[in-house]
Amino acid sequence: MPSVFAEARPVEFIQRPGGQQLSPRDELARGLLQPQPSIAPKFLYDALGSRLFEAITELDEYYPTRTELALLEAHLPALAAAIGAEARVVEPGSGAGVKTRMLLTALERPVGYVPIDISHEQLELNARALREEFPGLEVQPICADYTSRLELPHSTRTAARTVAFFPGSTIGNFEPDEARAFLARLGRLVGDGGMLLLGADANNDRASLERAYDDGLGVTAAFDKNVLAHVNHTHDATFDLDAFTHRAVWDASHHRVEMHLVSMRAQRVRIGATVVGFERGEVIVTEHCYKHPREAMAAMLTAAGWRTLRVDADPRGRMHLWLATRSA
Ligand code: TRP
Repeated sequence: MPSVFAEARPVEFIQRPGGQQLSPRDELARGLLQPQPSIAPKFLYDALGSRLFEAITELDEYYPTRTELALLEAHLPALAAAIGAEARVVEPGSGAGVKTRMLLTALERPVGYVPIDISHEQLELNARALREEFPGLEVQPICADYTSRLELPHSTRTAARTVAFFPGSTIGNFEPDEARAFLARLGRLVGDGGMLLLGADANNDRASLERAYDDGLGVTAAFDKNVLAHVNHTHDATFDLDAFTHRAVWDASHHRVEMHLVSMRAQRVRIGATVVGFERGEVIVTEHCYKHPREAMAAMLTAAGWRTLRVDADPRGRMHLWLATRSA
């Protein structure tokens, strides 16, 4: 069973346009020394971070997951009919697998499933379970950063078409230019006749958004602050978790929720050999969650070389499921 793939970058390093590579520690120090200090979102997802995120998806305030599940429940029969029989499914960033199972169950005789994830362990666990549950399915995990350039593994089965599945509004975690470039890359990956099934949030209501990303139980706060614990453990840093507080801010002009860690006092933090000072009230940005209004997402898909076939939205018009095909 092949496990990987063309041009996958080593995940410990980011490639700068200039070509030089930064170690995670240098990348962290550099981010924290910018005029607007930041920690890259990928540092949120260590083992505990992933479990906290699973818990977020069960919160009353976090509407995207259950809204998208309801949309899939309602529209998968029609979506599966549009996708057709004997499809191969590619999923960047395979999650816990509930939505994947719904899609694979709805599709008529799917021939292959290619999950792409940087967590090797998670991939193997999911792959094994899916092979058991779907005996006719060729499961070919790719262990890679899905934002890197990828090629699909050779398949022994002939698929009628390849469909990329990207639910969870994860597209909102890319900066807009990167989102468009990523969607265009997905188009090249699925090739001629390929399709895209995308879940994206369009909500612009400040109150519900700020609650969705700063819940009453404090799970999202724990998820966000865990980035500091992670960086302390793995990158030799000295963040005091009690000296930062989580805040979610809707920035209407950029159409995004910003995840902030606010420094509660003036303090210094060491990361390896670098010391960074924070003023009281100074903010570290850990993630942007962009919300794409329907017209904006439609335009982005077009710009990325996709032609929209159908859009399904919940009654409040927050979550949208997009089915698109590569325009000829
Ligand atoms: N992509 C999802 C979203 O934007 C999940 C997510 C990313 C998230 N970062 C988060 C959820 C922080 C809660 C908090 O909603």
